[in-house]
Amino acid sequence: MINIGILGCGNIARTRHIPEYAANPDCRITAYYNPSRGKAEALARQYGGKVYDSAEELLADPSIDAVSVCTANDAHAALSVAAMKAGKHVLCEKPIACTIEEAQEMLHISEETGRLLMAGHNQRFLPAHREAKEYLNKGTIGKILSFRTTFGHGGPEMFMKVKDMNSWFFRKEKAAMGVMADLGVHKIDLIHYLTGERSMRVSAKLSTLDKCREDGSPISVDDNAVCLLEMESGAVGTVTASWTYYGQPDNSTVIYGSKGIMRLYDDPDHSLLIKLADGSLIAGRSGPMDFRAPSGVIDSWIESIKAGKVLESDGKSALDAMKTVFAAIRSSETGTSIEIH
Ligand SMILES: NC(=O)c1ccc[n+]([C@@H]2O[C@H](COP(=O)([O-])OP(=O)(O)OC[C@H]3O[C@@H](n4cnc5c(N)ncnc54)[C@H](O)[C@@H]3O)[C@@H](O)[C@H]2O)c1
Repeated sequence: MINIGILGCGNIARTRHIPEYAANPDCRITAYYNPSRGKAEALARQYGGKVYDSAEELLADPSIDAVSVCTANDAHAALSVAAMKAGKHVLCEKPIACTIEEAQEMLHISEETGRLLMAGHNQRFLPAHREAKEYLNKGTIGKILSFRTTFGHGGPEMFMKVKDMNSWFFRKEKAAMGVMADLGVHKIDLIHYLTGERSMRVSAKLSTLDKCREDGSPISVDDNAVCLLEMESGAVGTVTASWTYYGQPDNSTVIYGSKGIMRLYDDPDHSLLIKLADGSLIAGRSGPMDFRAPSGVIDSWIESIKAGKVLESDGKSALDAMKTVFAAIRSSETGTSIEIH
């Protein structure tokens, strides 16, 4: 039985990590820490386990095998590093770090300690994306030439019990980055996963177009990001991320290949739809996107711990995605395209 600790007991811990751990027969949640203790206590009452007074106290407990880091962004790297040094495997939410140096340090500590590091990049686990990967591997649409992918909704306040425009999500000192790192990183990881390639160059524009704090001043992070990526093969595409798609979210991807076009979560009737140049159609078997369904992240994480290696979404792939995010930010700041090494 794998003993799990939860660091940060907010939305993502409560709605995804914890129910998915609870449903997995090979693990149990034994520990929680959250600065406001009430949130941790409510979860411990519901799911069992002990509440700790600090992250340090939780990490010092030798009975805990692995932790989920589900805090605001600014604590991800430090807690992940401390946890690995304390002998725990780490599943860290995205964006895994606030700087490239932090992300590199996380990977380095994982290698040095032999502790596993996985990122919560759940897009690659969505059913139509898994199915898409099978078709792409078989060469059904031929060579990938170009793509467009987007992830946008009305903003983090949509998921808050009480709308709070002073939330950490909108403050640079806690979040470090805005929608580019919140939603854009998901789509960059997805494109890396689907194409099997890294991004080599990015040109981007990040803007704060609409979101304001309670006092009317603009939030201190980006609420829209538009990126042009060049992949290792020369394929090109756009990644857009937005917190201002009011009224209707968009989480779609279209891949244009030498033999046809693949639409993912783009067609109203089919989560995966391939139209080939000869006119034939392939409709996937995946149902509509359902964010209430298990994400698949936790089951893969538990299998990874059992296997002694990260099966999917490891620290290296997370670092590749973060390199692209930081390059996009630099591109926007400098008005130049940035090579990614
Ligand atoms: N993978 C996904 O699809 C997905 C979805 C939503 C959120 N997230 C990520 O999960 C993280 C948390 O987001 P959320 O929506 O749950 O936010 P949230 O504000 O609801 O929860 C964050 C919790 O972390 C706690 N916290 C802050 N600093 C801490 C520290 N040092 N130690 C322990 N706890 C601390 C806060 O008190 C809060 O309860 C963010 O990084 C976010 O980007 C990922």
